[in-house]
Amino acid sequence: MTDPNTPTSSPCSNECAGDPAKANAPAVAAAATPAAPGPINPLPGTPTPVAQPAVPEPAWTNVGNAADWPVNGGRLVKLGARRIGVYRNNGKWYALKDYCPHAGVSLVAGPVHEAQVMCVGHGWTFSLEDGRCTRGAPGMRTTTYPVREVAGVVEVAV
Ligand code: FES
Repeated sequence: MTDPNTPTSSPCSNECAGDPAKANAPAVAAAATPAAPGPINPLPGTPTPVAQPAVPEPAWTNVGNAADWPVNGGRLVKLGARRIGVYRNNGKWYALKDYCPHAGVSLVAGPVHEAQVMCVGHGWTFSLEDGRCTRGAPGMRTTTYPVREVAGVVEVAV
């Protein structure tokens, strides 16, 4: 049995195990891992966060087979009262409201080039990406809709 009042030859306990090199080495603190942050105390009067409802998945509607579309062009699709031009250009799909904001001419009959469609009415052009007027009256735009191709089927969400 060891007397706790009796000095030992080493200041260490078990770590040195009698090794004089270790006994004279400065103590090294164990590498501490940062503690995980605790809960943040809100300021008094701060409203408690409320969980937001999940954004619902848009309702996709089958509008036809991709094989029926021109490689770089559009087709008119009617969804309820909506007339939508669905375009394929350079492998990407686009859907625009089929209504020129200048004078109401159908856009889908116009030529498609570089992700733009030209209105056959007076030659204004519209971005298929976001519906902006790119030639004619900057600031005007037409509505766009989500569109996708799934297993050869074109779908539009309204
Ligand atoms: S109706 Fe489209 S540019 Fe005039």
